[in-house]
Amino acid sequence: MTKRVAILISGGGSNMVALCESMVGDHPARPVLVASNDAAAGGLAKAAAMGIPTASVDHRPFGTDRAAFEAELLTPILAAEPDILCLAGFMRVLTPGFVGRFAGRMLNIHPSLLPKYPGLHTHRRALEAGDTEAGCTVHEVTPVLDDGPILGQARVPVLAGDTEASLAARVLVQEHHLYPAVLRRFAEGDRRPVIL
Ligand code: GAR
Repeated sequence: MTKRVAILISGGGSNMVALCESMVGDHPARPVLVASNDAAAGGLAKAAAMGIPTASVDHRPFGTDRAAFEAELLTPILAAEPDILCLAGFMRVLTPGFVGRFAGRMLNIHPSLLPKYPGLHTHRRALEAGDTEAGCTVHEVTPVLDDGPILGQARVPVLAGDTEASLAARVLVQEHHLYPAVLRRFAEGDRRPVIL
């Protein structure tokens, strides 16, 4: 049976676009919702242009009450009845309660070779450490930030003269290959890691 995929974004949504463009033909999944914590997120218009239902819930009025924000966000998500929830540049930390609802069926892409550099400023940290390679990871989401079983990784070289922006751009190209490859395999029920 075709799997229903909801995608959460906060920004431009280039990973979301890569995921949605991949879910065609004999792919075992289809996108059913793109939701954001920011009504101005550029990815929402891109999703709408692809004919995918969208929703947004501004996190700011909720202040530090993450659970109240998530309760609002859950309304459109539950209505879409997703089998799989993909975080694609979604920049809000989720509570264990929210994560628990989607245990075993929520994925995230992170722009580092986890377990290196969970959290923010991954490219800056890789450059400051003098790393010779960088990359991205898709993992199952657990209550611990940027933790959880690794479902795929792609590596890129760090080049002389790289800046945060140049490294981020090189990694992002690989993100767009990795995340669709992992989602396809995951939707087929196969959790073996994809290594690119
Ligand atoms: C991507 O590089 C993604 O890995 C990163 O945000 C960017 C979103 O770009 N995610 C995180 O840093 C999550 N902690 P996009 O909106 O163009 O997909």
